[in-house]
Amino acid sequence: MVNGDMPERVLLVGFMASGKSSVGKELASRLGWDFEDFDTAIKARAGKSVSQIFSEDGEAEFRRLESDVAEELLTRSNTVVASGGGWPAQPGSWKMVTEDTMSVWLQVSPAVAVGRAAEEGGTRPLLDGGDVLDRATALLLAREASYRRARYTLDSEQYGPLELADEIMKLMTGQGKT
Ligand code: S3P
Repeated sequence: MVNGDMPERVLLVGFMASGKSSVGKELASRLGWDFEDFDTAIKARAGKSVSQIFSEDGEAEFRRLESDVAEELLTRSNTVVASGGGWPAQPGSWKMVTEDTMSVWLQVSPAVAVGRAAEEGGTRPLLDGGDVLDRATALLLAREASYRRARYTLDSEQYGPLELADEIMKLMTGQGKT
């Protein structure tokens, strides 16, 4: 993306429960754009929930579906796209992110992600079971470099969806901090 150009789409990346969907919906409604979420598209394709795909078909099949969905959604125009938390760390993911896409990492700590995910209920197979904080910490550490490939990083711990949508709007129109 050349500085000053309006992007065709915004891609939100970040760990589970980093606020990708809530920020994405807010931003899309302000822009009058569509909102698309990887997990929702995957569920529609597979005809079952993410948890069911993991338990019945395995994570590799989930990642295959996720890659197909990414390929399709990352060509949409006037669309805010929320990726799944694991997608940016899959091989080849960032090759799908074209120059006309504005990518934003919503940064959150493992502790806050785990707390939020617990409040939202058990829809995330990778956070099910014991030692959840240890697992989230290890996963986030392993994925951090892939999230960092986003063009912008915003603090999703201190700021809520409304403020983050504001900030992204400013970045889109070239008035935000870089
Ligand atoms: C995953 C994150 C989830 C979902 C799946 C795997 C991950 O999406 O795609 O449970 O590997 O971090 P959210 O980030 O929307 O929770």
